[in-house]
Amino acid sequence: MRVTLCFGGSILAPDEPDVACIREIAQALRALKSRKHEILVVTGGGRPSRKYIQAARKLKASSTHCDLIGIDVTRLNARLLIAALGDLAEREPFTTFEAAIRAMLKGKVPVMGGTMPGQTTDAVAAMLASSSKSKLLVFFMDVDGVYTADPKLDPRAKKLETMTVQNLMKLVAVKKMEPGVSIVIDPVAAKLIQRTGIRTLVLGRHEVKRLQEILRGAKHSGTTIVPG
Ligand code: UTP
Repeated sequence: MRVTLCFGGSILAPDEPDVACIREIAQALRALKSRKHEILVVTGGGRPSRKYIQAARKLKASSTHCDLIGIDVTRLNARLLIAALGDLAEREPFTTFEAAIRAMLKGKVPVMGGTMPGQTTDAVAAMLASSSKSKLLVFFMDVDGVYTADPKLDPRAKKLETMTVQNLMKLVAVKKMEPGVSIVIDPVAAKLIQRTGIRTLVLGRHEVKRLQEILRGAKHSGTTIVPG
């Protein structure tokens, strides 16, 4: 199966880079490749990107400048995953979808960070999934699915087993997009998911090791986003 996987910075670098998590992801990707899956990967920036963005803000950087700093950090995390993947990955994080897809067609695992200001890597993943005609898009993050509200702030928040993309759009539309914003899935990504109708899963970090069985159709503990 052709699948685009987005590993949130919240799991790659919750505070600083999580080497054990990055190793585990690389191991899961190797197992998928040995089963002939075609994989494209996007990495987020995590807390380090927010720290850099905050510093840039204090220095009166523009929003675009802050975004570009965020993008650099997502690419640093891409480089760490590339290191863990060894020969399976190309040496450089990709900056265009076309080049990433070419590498995937050659049997490599392309890894991308951010691409352009004004969005997050969720949108990059949705665009990569769409342009590569992936069958499935999977987001891994530090929360184990989509909740009715932010579970870190609202103890009454309930996890949704499935949700329509329309409801996802309603949920994320309330947040203002600004550099370093914290949001379950960015609205640009939600819109692309709606447009392409791609099957999308939102999973917690603990599901990384079950990825192979989940691709085979096994039950998972996250949220499935379905076209409405
Ligand atoms: P992330 O993609 O890491 O933010 O981008 P996120 O979705 O909050 O994911 P986690 O927390 O890492 O899981 C970090 C910042 O980098 C800039 C934005 O400012 C974003 O908030 N960025 C990233 C862009 O401007 N464009 C991109 O394509 C990607």
